[in-house]
Amino acid sequence: MGKLKITDTTLRDGHQSLWATRMRTADMLPIIEKIDNVGYHSLEVWGGATFDVCMRFLDEDPWERLRTLKKHAPRTPLQMLLRAQSLVGYQLYPDDVVRSFIARAVANGINIIRIFDALNDLRNMEVPVAAARKEGAHVQGTVVYTISPVHTTEHFLRTALDLESMGVDSICIKDMAGLLAPFEAYELVKLFKERLHVPVQLHSHYIGGLAVGAYLEAARAGVDVVDTASVPLAFGASQPPVETVVRAVAGTPYDTGLDLNLLFEIARYFDDLRRELGYERGVTRITDMWVFQHQVPGGMITNLYSQLKEQKAADRIREVLAEIPRVRADLGYPPLVTPTSQIVGTQAVLNVLLGQRYKMVPGEVKNYVRGLYGRPPAPINAEVRQLIIGAEEPVQGRPADSLAPGLEKARQEIGDLARNEEDVLSYALFPQVARKFLEDRRAGRLHPGPRAGKAKTGGKVEAGGKKKMDLKDITQLIKSLEETGITEFNLESDGVRILIRRGGQGTVGEPATRVQVSGTEEARAEKEKPAPGPVPDLIEVRAPMVGTFYRAPSPDAPPFVEVGTRVKPGQTLCIIEAMKLMNELTAETAGQVVEIQAENGQPVEYGQLLFRLQKE
Ligand code: CO
Repeated sequence: MGKLKITDTTLRDGHQSLWATRMRTADMLPIIEKIDNVGYHSLEVWGGATFDVCMRFLDEDPWERLRTLKKHAPRTPLQMLLRAQSLVGYQLYPDDVVRSFIARAVANGINIIRIFDALNDLRNMEVPVAAARKEGAHVQGTVVYTISPVHTTEHFLRTALDLESMGVDSICIKDMAGLLAPFEAYELVKLFKERLHVPVQLHSHYIGGLAVGAYLEAARAGVDVVDTASVPLAFGASQPPVETVVRAVAGTPYDTGLDLNLLFEIARYFDDLRRELGYERGVTRITDMWVFQHQVPGGMITNLYSQLKEQKAADRIREVLAEIPRVRADLGYPPLVTPTSQIVGTQAVLNVLLGQRYKMVPGEVKNYVRGLYGRPPAPINAEVRQLIIGAEEPVQGRPADSLAPGLEKARQEIGDLARNEEDVLSYALFPQVARKFLEDRRAGRLHPGPRAGKAKTGGKVEAGGKKKMDLKDITQLIKSLEETGITEFNLESDGVRILIRRGGQGTVGEPATRVQVSGTEEARAEKEKPAPGPVPDLIEVRAPMVGTFYRAPSPDAPPFVEVGTRVKPGQTLCIIEAMKLMNELTAETAGQVVEIQAENGQPVEYGQLLFRLQKE
């Protein structure tokens, strides 16, 4: 037993859990040298949602942030969170992109890479682990902790032993939902310490308050490192506060040796920043506490609740919460963490609202069942699989084996907008977001700070791993209404009320579904403007959802669909991004673009005119 070491998560998980990942580099710089002097085991400062939020909302280059932090915090190892084959994104990337991303992360200053896969599928971790080892980083293999009939102590131990034989330098137990109870933590850590030869770290979230107890019991069992945050960015959905843990073990064999006075100085800085930016302290609401009942993380409940509310179905939250464990069981008990929490949550909402299970299945759920995210912890219910993908055989091999290399393609596509390999990688990971960022940089339109009060929030799109039900799914929901007995459906979005009334079914010449938009004065005025009379053979393409409009590569010579571009049915006209999902809008008939009514990177409203096409 030795002293307990601490990883500080304030600059990554702390603000990702409580401030929607909106802390800017300029907000970190005044305090980073003091943090570097604390004597932390490591500083988790990069990865997770920080990468895309930098470009998307903060006008910052995430690579530049990393280099800057490294320069100002040279003493303490810098750590990042990597979603295995999904890196810092929400889909699996090809191996060449994975290898290059990890090489550049290390070259720009990362020392420790914590690698996890949502399904504990080690096939998704092979390439990232090997690449991180090759680059000389400390590789931390992660065991995702959850509660289910198949997530036994044996499963966790087997995962940890397999990771150790892959050559990882340490093991992390990742308890993202704050479910690991103190005495279980003791047993699990003790077993790991007996059977493994590498150090063991525990990462938990405060949420229902178990984490402080879990850390203390883990310390008694010999855990090497635990994760905490500075108190203004601790509690609630974030980590336990460092100050509490330091005080709790002071004078024991686990004494951290950290200076409370220095920690309080740092806390004062972050508390002032919190007030200045207008964020709340981390708190535990009663709904967060429900995690003890059904293992649905609080952040996920909040988002489900607000989505149900928008659809005037808030009273059905309990039905959805009862449905989530059933869907999770059907799908082979995936742990509820990005992206599987969205997959299970969305399906549960649809099952409840449509009154029939698996009547409508989003693409992400289909891909999950096809095995494209990895191997579920337990077999998928055979009947449900039949309902979702029919007779189709799920993928058997390593999911990324089916992906074509992506790096050269990205390099060609982004061209001289990329100044270096890092820019190419940003583009390979987030094509639309990075292109806009790089264009803005070239045009001198970036405004990355200094502190500008609360960062631009980007409307309804939430960062920080917290996702509402996808608007794409709402759109699909609307479509599916045509098959159900529901005759009226209200959807409130951005102050605009959308009333969908099913009517005229079977009546010749009447559309099956009518969409009527009302709400804010501006929106109403806009809608009531006399529309120019329909021109024969001119097709209007309107936004099917609220989101951000991005121009799409054209099938012809010019790089984008422009006025004059000819498109065939099924070709992509543009991309509407909503809730981090890129939704391609395709042409329904052949035609020539005669008018484009939306601007690249700008928000569009539901029903807004985007294109006029001359039918061909
Ligand atoms: Co976390």
